[in-house]
Amino acid sequence: MSNEHNQQKLSSARFSESTDAFVEAFTASIQFDQRMYKQDIQGSIAHAKMISKVGILSEIELKDVLTGLQQVQDEIEAGEFNWSIQQEDIHMNIEARLTSLIGITGKKLHTGRSRNDQVATDIRLFIRDEIDAILPEMKRLQQGLVVLAEREADSIMPGFTHLQTAQPVTFGHHMLAWFEMIKRDVERLQDCRKRVNTSPLGSAALAGTTYPIDRAYTAELLGFERITENSLDGVSDRDFAIEFTAFAATLMMHLSRFSEELVLWSSAQFQFIDLPDRFCTGSSIMPQKKNPDVPELVRGKTGRVYGHLMSLLTLMKSQPLAYNKDNQEDKEPLFDTVDTVRGSLRAFADMVPALIVKREVTYEAAKRGFSTATDLADYLVGKGLAFRDSHEVVGLAVAHGIQSGQDLSEMSLETLQGFCDQITDDVFDVLTLEGSVAARDHLGGTAPSQVRAAVARAKVYLAD
Ligand code: ARG
Repeated sequence: MSNEHNQQKLSSARFSESTDAFVEAFTASIQFDQRMYKQDIQGSIAHAKMISKVGILSEIELKDVLTGLQQVQDEIEAGEFNWSIQQEDIHMNIEARLTSLIGITGKKLHTGRSRNDQVATDIRLFIRDEIDAILPEMKRLQQGLVVLAEREADSIMPGFTHLQTAQPVTFGHHMLAWFEMIKRDVERLQDCRKRVNTSPLGSAALAGTTYPIDRAYTAELLGFERITENSLDGVSDRDFAIEFTAFAATLMMHLSRFSEELVLWSSAQFQFIDLPDRFCTGSSIMPQKKNPDVPELVRGKTGRVYGHLMSLLTLMKSQPLAYNKDNQEDKEPLFDTVDTVRGSLRAFADMVPALIVKREVTYEAAKRGFSTATDLADYLVGKGLAFRDSHEVVGLAVAHGIQSGQDLSEMSLETLQGFCDQITDDVFDVLTLEGSVAARDHLGGTAPSQVRAAVARAKVYLAD
C-alpha cells in the first residue's frame, strides 16, 4: 500500500490498521474498469458543471476541474497514466490524479456524489456507446444478407426439416430468414437502449444527497432520456446490463445457427457454398483441408455469452438493496460480451456478401430426396382427391422412386398414371423444382417473386 493512501485511509478515524496487501489487490477493479475511463470523465464533467451551476463550485474551480480532467484523459490516451491498484478503481484513480494536478479543488468534485451512482452512470454510458457501435454492424450484416438474397433469388436448394430434404426453397429465401432474425435482434437492442439510457446520477450512495443538485441538468448534459426515480434502485439494479446481455445471447444463438449451416454447407458432403479463403485456415498436417474457422469460432463463442448472461443473473440474485460490492463483478462479463458480439458481427458482416453459392450443386441436391412430393399431393387434391388419399398415392410413387432410383419428375406419365389415373401431362409443371418454388407465391413464401418483393421491403427498412 502506498504511503499516501495508507495515510489517507488511517486519517479516516474509522480504521486502525491498513488494508492487507492481498485484500487490496483482491478488491481492486482498476485492472479492468479502466476501460470505462472515457465514460467516467464524461460523467465527472457533467457533475462538475452541475455543482457549479447550483453554486457548489465556483466558475474558476469548474475551469480547473475541466482542464484537469482533460489532462487526465490525454495522459490515459497517450498511455502515460500511472494506474494504481492502491486507488482501487477507475473513479479513485482519476480523482487522485486530478487532485495531484489541480490541488484541493480536485477533492471538491465528489461533493453530492458517490462512487455508487458514479459507477452506475459509467456502465450505462458504456453500454449505450457499445449499443451505438453494435447497431451499425448489425445493419451491415443485414445489408449483406439482402445483397446475397437478391443475387440468389432464383437459386434453388433443398429446404430441410429434421435435416431431411423437405421441399425446394430458394437460396435467397433462406438468407432472408436470417435477415428476419437479425431484424428482431435489432429491435430488441433498440428497446434495451431506452432503459439503458436513464440517468442514475444524483442517487448518491443510496438515499440521495443533501446538496441542492439538479439531476435534470446532468441527465441532459449526458444525453440521458430519463432519470431514475428511486435512488436505491438507481445505484443497485443492473437489470439493464442483464437485458443487454440477454440481447447478446439471443443474437449469438442466431449467429450460431447460421454458423452451423455454413459449416455444414461448406463440407465436402454438402458443397453448397464456398467460403472465401480469407475466412478459412488450413491444417498443419492434412494438405487438402480448408477449415471454416470463422463460423466455427462464432458458434463456439456463443457459449461464453450464455455464460455471461448466467453470471449477471446470478450476480443480482437475492442481492439486498442497495449497492453491494458484488456489483463490481458486472464488468468483466459485460466487457467480454461486448467484445465477443462485436467480433462475431464484424466477421459475419464481412463474410456474408462474399459467400459463393454453388448453384448447380444446390439444384441437384434439391432434386434428390423427393422434394416435390408435396407438390404432387397438392396437384392431386386439385384433381379432386382428398388430401389423405393423395398423400397415400404419392407415398406409393415415392416408394417406387426409391426402388427404381428415379425422382418423381423423371418418371414417365404412364408410370405416374399407374398410381392414379387422374394424373395428366400438366403434372410435370408442378414436379419441377422451378414450378414448385414458383407456386409458393404469397407473402412469406419461397417463390423468387416473393424473395424480390421481400428484398425490396428490406431495402426500404434499411434506408431508414
Ligand atoms: N468499483 C466499484 C464497482 O465497480 C465502484 C463502486 C464502489 N462503491 C463502493 N461503495 N465501494 O462497483
